[in-house]
Amino acid sequence: MNHIDTFDFMSSEQSARIETVLQEERIFKPSQFVAKEATITGLDQYQQMIASAKADPDSFWGKAALAELHWFKPFDSVLDWSNPPFAKWFDGGTTNVTYNCLDRHILNGKGEKTAIIWEGEPGDVRRITYKQLFDEVCKTANALKDLGIKKGDLVALYMPMVPEAAISMLACARIGAPHSVVFGGFSSEALRDRLNDGQAKVVITADGGFRKDKIISLKDAVDSALANKSCPSVESVLVVKRTNENISFVPGRDYWWHELINSKSNKCEAEHMESEDRLFVLYTSGSTGKPKGVVHTTAGYNLWAHLTFKWIFDVQENEVYWCTADVGWITGHSYIVYGPLSNGSTTFMYEGVPRPSNPGAFWEIIQKHKINIFYTAPTAIRAFMKSGRGIPDQYDLSSLRLLGTVGEPINPEAWIWYREVIGQGNCPVVDTWWQTETGGVMISPIPNAVSTKPGSATLPLPGIEVDIVNAAGESVQTDQGGYLVIKRPWPGMMRTVHGNSKRFRETYWEYLKPKNGKFIYFAGDGARRDNDGYYWIMGRVDDVINVSGHRLGTMEIESALVSHASVAEAAVVGKPDELRGESIVAFVTLEADKQFSDNLLEILKSHVVKEIGAIARPEEIRFTNALPKTRSGKIMRRLLRSLAAGEDVKGDTSTLEDKNVLDELRS
Ligand code: WTA
Repeated sequence: MNHIDTFDFMSSEQSARIETVLQEERIFKPSQFVAKEATITGLDQYQQMIASAKADPDSFWGKAALAELHWFKPFDSVLDWSNPPFAKWFDGGTTNVTYNCLDRHILNGKGEKTAIIWEGEPGDVRRITYKQLFDEVCKTANALKDLGIKKGDLVALYMPMVPEAAISMLACARIGAPHSVVFGGFSSEALRDRLNDGQAKVVITADGGFRKDKIISLKDAVDSALANKSCPSVESVLVVKRTNENISFVPGRDYWWHELINSKSNKCEAEHMESEDRLFVLYTSGSTGKPKGVVHTTAGYNLWAHLTFKWIFDVQENEVYWCTADVGWITGHSYIVYGPLSNGSTTFMYEGVPRPSNPGAFWEIIQKHKINIFYTAPTAIRAFMKSGRGIPDQYDLSSLRLLGTVGEPINPEAWIWYREVIGQGNCPVVDTWWQTETGGVMISPIPNAVSTKPGSATLPLPGIEVDIVNAAGESVQTDQGGYLVIKRPWPGMMRTVHGNSKRFRETYWEYLKPKNGKFIYFAGDGARRDNDGYYWIMGRVDDVINVSGHRLGTMEIESALVSHASVAEAAVVGKPDELRGESIVAFVTLEADKQFSDNLLEILKSHVVKEIGAIARPEEIRFTNALPKTRSGKIMRRLLRSLAAGEDVKGDTSTLEDKNVLDELRS
């Protein structure tokens, strides 16, 4: 490790990743990719796009917005960056995302084309054409209006992966009501926080959903969240019948979807939305405080989801595309719903996940529905790798043409396995780096143009100016680790944190302070750039951990722990995990009158699940008499990370207030 420098903020795991990837010399040329009518045909065209976006960004984005989206009224200006970090894109224009996702395709004669193919975990299948989707969206939009929803009112979704989730999102967009989708795996407490923060007026949910051979009781969770008037803004709850659960109904508040919506008219004009009107709020975890509501607006987000989907996946007219994410995450928003539908593609939705009763579920679906493009997470790939190629080898995967990955760094071994076993050696693998905040992919290979290297997300997309900098905001040299930043606004960027513009400014735009006073966006990730300009993402460098591609703030889990009567203090760190990327380790001190016990350990784990959801369940809880702190009282997480990983504590411990604490923790 003498030829590269790493920063103090990087964990030993991240440094080890730098070492491994530096030895990664395999390159896969783009020539094997076969798309009949590729959008970006090769390196020349790609480089031209990069050059023109760089030379005149406004003209590049302006032309793209006019070419790719429908406008009721064209915009007056492309980017207004006069009040950074608050951007305005396509000011003066009006459009509607659902017009772009539905009406224009129907007007172009594609009404009978399949928009959504859906399969439920029990194996039930639905196919919905663009015209049928349009009708459902309009009816739902009319039902929302009848429930009193007006432009600007927030509608929350807490749903299983059923077509009604996509229909609801689009229905909201149709009438200009921002949606806030809450992942169905979050607990009722987490749901309540999000409903209250967003002041949601309606919640759309289902009696339940099928997942891993179990029924998730969504309506019960909504009832608990709303109990005792704890969400005063919520007026109505709309319930999709999915599992036939026995659920309780509150008269005047709760409505069955099928009873309310089927009778509504299928005519509902698309609201003319200003470019910067809110499209949705999506909560995500950060280093500090409660999860923040990331705000995305209409035109810029639509353009970015549309363009990135087209550039990267390049779905052909008769192809079927499948992204395995849940609509509760940004990947589901941009690459199950908005990106594919805006492009008039056929998007596949699956309610379930691979499970012990059906470990080949994904491959069976690829075979059955002839999936051409498949987009999933490294955690899933590593799990498949572990259970052996014997399972996928039983299926015909020859329809596949392109494979994508997202959500966490992918190790070269998993990348190669994905390419060789699932892609049978002839599908390009696109590793796409992005975030809830970026709206769409930022760094990714373009299959026809960019050679890939296993483990690298390769190059920024046209118009995206990425850099790696030190704490002073200065570019670092090739192969040096540093902070990943974005130096120029892009259409899909988040606009603010819901209700907290100060937090938006401080978290993302003032974390690093370049001397030239310029605003640069700090992503929270560490990365390295190699000799070819390729980016290698190292993972989070802030107090966010990534468990199986799910983002969690250590502070959220700490707050959940200390909300238990037995806990005095808690510090949570991530520990490297072969399968899940990271797992959660909590160090806990107890109130004076409380005793350590195995029983308490389980109680605390369940308490976190109750407060946040099963994805936040700590893998390990370690009881200790004290936490390592600096003299100013800050918990030294770096030390805890090393301890959790079972490593010797390296680096400076001189600021530690009480050295005995370390000895105790070690033992
Ligand atoms: C991580 C998910 C490495 C990263 C779209 C980022 C990745 C966080 C990759 C955002 C990738 C996402 N390689 N790391 N290809 N993609 N990440 O908001 O740490 O749920 O900051 O968005 O996931 O997670 P989020």
